[in-house]
Amino acid sequence: MTGTSPDLRLGVLGYGLRGSLARLAHRPGSGSRVVALADHDEAVRDRAAKDFPGARITGDHREVIGHPDVEAVLVLTPDHTHADLACAALRAGRPVFVEKPLDITVERCDLVLRTARATGTRLYVGHNMRHMPVVRLMRDLIARGGIGTVRTVWVRHFVGYGGDWYFKDWHAERRFTTGLLLQKAAHDLDVLHWLAGGYTRQVQALGELMVYGDVPHRRAPGEPKSADWYTEDGHWPPHTQRGLNPVIDVEDVSLVNLRLDNGVLAAYQQCHFTPDYWRNYTVIGDAGRLENFGDGPGSVVKVWNARRSEYRGEADAAYTVPDAGDDAGHAGADPLIVAEFVRFAREGGRTDTSPVAARMAVAAGAGATESLRDGGTPRSVPDLDADLITYFERGQRA
Ligand SMILES: NC(=O)c1ccc[n+]([C@@H]2O[C@H](COP(=O)([O-])OP(=O)(O)OC[C@H]3O[C@@H](n4cnc5c(N)ncnc54)[C@H](O)[C@@H]3O)[C@@H](O)[C@H]2O)c1
Repeated sequence: MTGTSPDLRLGVLGYGLRGSLARLAHRPGSGSRVVALADHDEAVRDRAAKDFPGARITGDHREVIGHPDVEAVLVLTPDHTHADLACAALRAGRPVFVEKPLDITVERCDLVLRTARATGTRLYVGHNMRHMPVVRLMRDLIARGGIGTVRTVWVRHFVGYGGDWYFKDWHAERRFTTGLLLQKAAHDLDVLHWLAGGYTRQVQALGELMVYGDVPHRRAPGEPKSADWYTEDGHWPPHTQRGLNPVIDVEDVSLVNLRLDNGVLAAYQQCHFTPDYWRNYTVIGDAGRLENFGDGPGSVVKVWNARRSEYRGEADAAYTVPDAGDDAGHAGADPLIVAEFVRFAREGGRTDTSPVAARMAVAAGAGATESLRDGGTPRSVPDLDADLITYFERGQRA
């Protein structure tokens, strides 16, 4: 890194919905600030110029990566662009934050990991769920031995806002995402791996486009999203949706079975046409079971571990998910990943997120997607080079 400023000087690529991370990172005088930003969309660039006065705003990512003032880069563009942009930043010697998922194929993820290793430049992947209080509470309870050794993990993701978030823009197209089992599930597959202490070796899935494929109200190609594309409680039931993406070729319901390298068996289910939005984790060990009820601050994780019984609503222990005290995104997880990246870009060292784990989440999601598009036949996850694993385990030191 160059320069003597106390703020880490950031370049930003992509300023759409996740531009929220750039705004969180822009704290002049308090550790980091945005000095350059690229987005392909002119209207977005106008907005960025107002949000980051004095920053260099451009349509060309090369001007940001090569800008002499930029010390580190945030990649906040759509998934299929991540590997190219991250590799360009790494080759320029700029520590890089890549939004999840790392990219949309295993090969492209491995290219990013190899480039980080070859250049020795720091790579960080923004799996913010690792900083969500509900996830950390479940992980702590498991680490304290509350349910014995984890044997099986079942995750259900009710994606109540799926019609708005995933079927009205690029998310709906395979060419930009591979599929929602990768795009959306990468978070939960990563958390599932983290809670279970292993990575997926074998995967099998079934899935369909059951609901949104039948909605005839699509935008014309090139037509922008309508102002009311998202509502808190409208757009219900799903068949009343309007303004969907012109092309929809991803699934809206998927059921996945996974075998992990430590013997844990797991299941993940995702549905985009539920009325409610939340995630339910059930983790069963050889001496107990835990489950979350709600996933925001104030919700509860219950543990049953004292005796056998019929159904018991009151568990042996119940833990309230703490309020991170910051509602700036994903139950307070977003400010924490930004802070972790700024610290890591400057100093290196341990992080709670992991590039290898990010690759393993993509590999599980990509394998599951292949499986469901091939009659549910099982897939094995390709190995990652052992020397890459070692490099990242050592904290990205040769
Ligand atoms: N971690 C999370 O919780 C979370 C949540 C939502 C989205 N995401 C991820 O964040 C990323 C961005 O998603 P989003 O919802 O903000 O998308 P978006 O479509 O709202 O914004 C993407 C922006 O990138 C710009 N862009 C595209 N290609 C570019 C390029 N080559 N150079 C410069 N700009 C470019 C587009 O013009 C657009 O403004 C995705 O990878 C998505 O999966 C993560």
